[in-house]
Amino acid sequence: MSQKLALLGGTPLRTRPFTAWPIFGNSDERRLLRTLRSGQWGKLDGPEVAEFERRFAARHGCRHGIGVVNGTVSLRLALMAAGIRAGDEVIVPPYTFYSTASAVIEANAVPVFADIDLDTFNLDPVAAAAAVTPRTRAIIPVHFAGQPADMTAFMRLAKRRDLVVIEDAAHAHGASFRNRPAGSLGHQGSFSFQSTKNLTSGEGGIITTNDGTLAERCRALHNCGRIPGGAWYEHHLLAGNYRLGELQGALLNSQLDRLETQTATRDRNGRYLAFRLARLPGVHPQKRPASCTRHSYHLFMVRLDGRIFGAPRAAVIQALQAEGIPCSGGYAMSLHHQPMFRHQAFGPYLPQARGKLDYRETHCPNSDLICREQGLWIEQRILLGPRADMDDIARAFAKVHEHHQALADWARKQP
Ligand SMILES: Cc1ncc(COP(=O)(O)O)c(C=O)c1O
Repeated sequence: MSQKLALLGGTPLRTRPFTAWPIFGNSDERRLLRTLRSGQWGKLDGPEVAEFERRFAARHGCRHGIGVVNGTVSLRLALMAAGIRAGDEVIVPPYTFYSTASAVIEANAVPVFADIDLDTFNLDPVAAAAAVTPRTRAIIPVHFAGQPADMTAFMRLAKRRDLVVIEDAAHAHGASFRNRPAGSLGHQGSFSFQSTKNLTSGEGGIITTNDGTLAERCRALHNCGRIPGGAWYEHHLLAGNYRLGELQGALLNSQLDRLETQTATRDRNGRYLAFRLARLPGVHPQKRPASCTRHSYHLFMVRLDGRIFGAPRAAVIQALQAEGIPCSGGYAMSLHHQPMFRHQAFGPYLPQARGKLDYRETHCPNSDLICREQGLWIEQRILLGPRADMDDIARAFAKVHEHHQALADWARKQP
């Protein structure tokens, strides 16, 4: 039997910190300083955002990229560009960040939740197909944790029912599905560059597409309704200023140079860690279908079945943290249980749906199970270390499992 659990007074398995995030150096400083000194700080003044849009789009198999202020706005503009109208229904998973659904409401459309698959944690194509009604206009599959959703199934469904598919690729920079990059698989892709993301400038987002008409609409929507060739004070549609700035563009350009190596490291370490952890009873790493040719591991995620493991998730997380392994339970509730949905606190949006929508009638048991009892997340930065770091994580899980009885007894005594 190995040393007592650190949570119960033993020695932590690891005290050294894991890789910190963000990672930056001289190349970022040089590029930022150059932009600073140029005095060209706005997207319409300088070359950085335009260059980044070209490079990022090309890296993700797309002809067009439209850099915007964040990955929430990119979803909303993608919906608007696709012609989503008041009251249209958009199918989304309930196991995702708030924005996947809030952006739908801000496009004046109705989010309809379809459950996720219990093994991949991605939107289940069968559940999505069952949620289609005559009012459905779009689907937003999320490439959860960085593993592409089943885009073959979603594109087939979209073709059959004449739907728009917008990939929420906020976790999926550099990921690929059947060797095709995330962001190029649907009609439009949406990425985030918020601080925790695999490619970051603190805040930021981008819409990717191969459709020139959609790209042009997105450009107008993110630039006050201006159109190519139009005068500066000529505005053709209701839109806003959602442009990414040049300082962010400069940082994204230098960070993008690191994306390939970092993604390869995360993918290698993620695969290895999944292999190590899958041996433990009740520990189910995110199942990886053969179609996932590159996992970007924004999160390394497992489903921990506490009954089989021998101790409840909350206690296991506390025990792992005490051993020096940063981890969390992730989202505590499915999106449709959020107070915003419960109380229909939609601001000025969806007035026509008031009183008719009741998200208490939405049932997504897989998502609920993962939120309430079984989800466990490890952040992407942890996967950037050497293989020895993965070994430490695997040893910590094994140690906690070895002591599951003592941990379960401890958990029972907690208030
Ligand atoms: C799945 C998903 N979609 C959308 C977003 C929204 O991105 P942002 O925070 O850049 O608005 C996030 C970000 O956290 C996300 O995780």
